Amino acid sequence: MRAPNKLTISLAVAATASLIAVTGCSANQPTGTTSGGTDKLEITSWWTSGSEAEALNVLIDGVKASKSGLSVDNAAVSGGGGANARQALAARLQAGSPPDAWQLHPAGQLKSYVDGGQVADLTELWTQNNWASQLPKDVAEAQQVDGKYYTVPIGVHRGNVLWTNPAVLSKAGVTINATGDVDELITGLKKVEAAGVTPVCLGDKDVFASAELLESIIMSRTGADNWKKLFTNEYSFDAPEVKQALEDYKTILSLSNKDHSAITWDEAVKKMADGTCAVSLMGDWAYGELINAKKQPGTDFAWVTFPGNEDIFDYVGDGFSIPAKNIPHADAANAWLKTLMDPKVQTEFAAKKGSIPAMTTADISKLSEYQQEAAKSFAKAKIVSSLAHGQVSTAEFAQTYADAVSTFNGSGNVDAFTASMTQAQKTQL
Ligand code: BGC
Repeated sequence: MRAPNKLTISLAVAATASLIAVTGCSANQPTGTTSGGTDKLEITSWWTSGSEAEALNVLIDGVKASKSGLSVDNAAVSGGGGANARQALAARLQAGSPPDAWQLHPAGQLKSYVDGGQVADLTELWTQNNWASQLPKDVAEAQQVDGKYYTVPIGVHRGNVLWTNPAVLSKAGVTINATGDVDELITGLKKVEAAGVTPVCLGDKDVFASAELLESIIMSRTGADNWKKLFTNEYSFDAPEVKQALEDYKTILSLSNKDHSAITWDEAVKKMADGTCAVSLMGDWAYGELINAKKQPGTDFAWVTFPGNEDIFDYVGDGFSIPAKNIPHADAANAWLKTLMDPKVQTEFAAKKGSIPAMTTADISKLSEYQQEAAKSFAKAKIVSSLAHGQVSTAEFAQTYADAVSTFNGSGNVDAFTASMTQAQKTQL
């Protein structure tokens, strides 16, 4: 993982120091105790957009209802995709002053925290509560490292969704099909451009947005099986299909709003729904955000699996872990994890977030048409994990990818991109 810059570390350490000063808590205080007789819980995440904050509040209300008198400190750090939040967290972990629980992705990103000895082993809690039997196999497995559970899943997002503006597309005479391919998509986008509208809304102020767009294009060109092989070193970032995907991505970038690096993912999807452009690739947290902004599904916006990805579900999981050492409020952290694994809470959270519940015991019958489709697809599509969200690989490899995408956005140099990724395949996987 890239080292946090000095300013971030000193700000985070200063913030932690002042928090300790205000609460009178010490990082080494015995677990389960709090100052002032009030039970406290501090959680970190990157859920700060309108829909994300509302969904997080469902969880906060849930834990408060399970533990009377609990006061919750929501220490979310803004920045879609979580790079800022993870950097701030790294500084706190380094300073020995963790929050009680933090948001993370399962599998690869989780493994990096496990390898660093930073997250607590939750296997006993999983066994006592029989959680594995209430989850799809893929989801339960992603929460483990070497057969032990270190995190709990709150929801399942899909990363490869193209959100579309029906009115803009129909005015330009364009239809986008999941069964089509990237060539057909680009042809359609050029028609939109010829009709005088910006084809693509992109908001990659936080680089994950463009990293996720490129990821979807690569999956279309390589297929699910070769995508997986990129992370087991059985297929190369140098392959002709990946190079083609980079060329496609360059074209799609040239068909995007010029201010893409100045706006955020949520601004971009809302611009799409307002008719500023025709499409926006984003994970289905966009669904939660559009509903939160009172946009009407089917009218203001529609969706299609990214063309060429129809049988692929790009899994982006959300969950929380608790620290292995120096946990300030162990009982409250335990209550938090149990709240997340309440099927009713999972359904209520999903309704705001746009995800589907991780638990098969959660009732999804009242969730939206989009979410019903996502749930069906998760059950039958090929499940792959996201690189843009650090789930399919270690955090270090995911950071190399994010850096390579940032550089490529400026240079458009395919060879430089494939060189840095093939080098990382050799040394970081
Ligand atoms: C998370 C989502 C979040 C999105 C944008 C992803 O990494 O999985 O829950 O909404 O980032 O911030």
